[in-house]
Amino acid sequence: MNNFVPTVPAALRWHGGADGHLEILDQTLLPGRTEHVHCRDVPTVVEAIKMLRVRGAPAIGIAGGYGLVLAVAEAKQQGLSPAPALTHIRKRAHELATARPTAVNLQWAVDRLLKLVDTASDVKTIDLLATSLLNEARCIHEEDRELCAAIGRFGAEILPEGDILTHCNTGSLATGGDGTALGVIVAAWRQGRRFRVYADETRPLLQGARLTAWELVQRQIPVTVLVDGAAAHLLRTGRIGCCIVGADRIAANGDTANKIGTYGLAVAARAHGVPFFVAAPSSSFDLSLAAGTAIPIEERAAAEVLRPLGVQAAPKGAEAFNPAFDVTPAELITAIITERGIIQDVGRKTVAAVLTS
Ligand code: MRU
Repeated sequence: MNNFVPTVPAALRWHGGADGHLEILDQTLLPGRTEHVHCRDVPTVVEAIKMLRVRGAPAIGIAGGYGLVLAVAEAKQQGLSPAPALTHIRKRAHELATARPTAVNLQWAVDRLLKLVDTASDVKTIDLLATSLLNEARCIHEEDRELCAAIGRFGAEILPEGDILTHCNTGSLATGGDGTALGVIVAAWRQGRRFRVYADETRPLLQGARLTAWELVQRQIPVTVLVDGAAAHLLRTGRIGCCIVGADRIAANGDTANKIGTYGLAVAARAHGVPFFVAAPSSSFDLSLAAGTAIPIEERAAAEVLRPLGVQAAPKGAEAFNPAFDVTPAELITAIITERGIIQDVGRKTVAAVLTS
């Protein structure tokens, strides 16, 4: 059996040294067009994150890290002396970290680079700052590739037989590696397991139909796209061995924020006795939040619902409710697959035990 799985284009890549730039694959144009945005300043990175040109919790963290390297270049171009340069970099860090509120990976990555900014206090060190920030951003990127591989290995061990249902996009486009939930799927396929992946289309921005199906077709893994409303019906057929999704932020008790529709999927999975897995790196956990009720939920523009893909689908005068994420309570999650191991019987103690191991 041929277990070779082709790769897919990377979501983002840094070109050159500390005076280089960030190239982002514009995911809003997929699957129709493969075009890149070349970011040479922070506002371009912030715009790309807000507009979901780059998206997925780990990928926006990586973009935020590289973005801060561009903030140092901006300060140098403006000829700022050290104190105003540091003020400028911190202001840019805030703009990057708050570009989207739910995925904790973004704040986490920017904070990691800010620690280096805090140690730069004179001209010489500020000159070196761009290099040390670039090294750290590269480290976050490379680490994420390794985290995906580890999540894939752990996850493939516990994946039950049968077809797999997933939601949103959690693959190469969303991470620095093969993905989290999709990374588990790819790892299992490489090991010779055979199944079909059912991808919820993921309304309103269609990350499942446009991006997950795009990745799986290229990887030559069978994929079927369904409208989100068909998921409960599919689960009742008994064809699905498990659901597996990613995460944008996981609270200390295991409650998990992920793409809108995940919670409903978990409820339906429980009703039909289908295991429901979350796959996420430790950078997606926010242990400062006791429970999922404290996770900020991004609300996006009404036009995404009322005018999907630019087509007026609801009458003018109608309003929209458009939360980008929802929270799945820990009790609906069979296990959380992390790079450090598998959290079973998900709750405060089991989360702490695996994350601090
Ligand atoms: O709005 P998006 O497309 O950034 O939402 C992405 C998700 O919800 C993913 O499931 C999550 O970030 C995990 S990606 C490995």
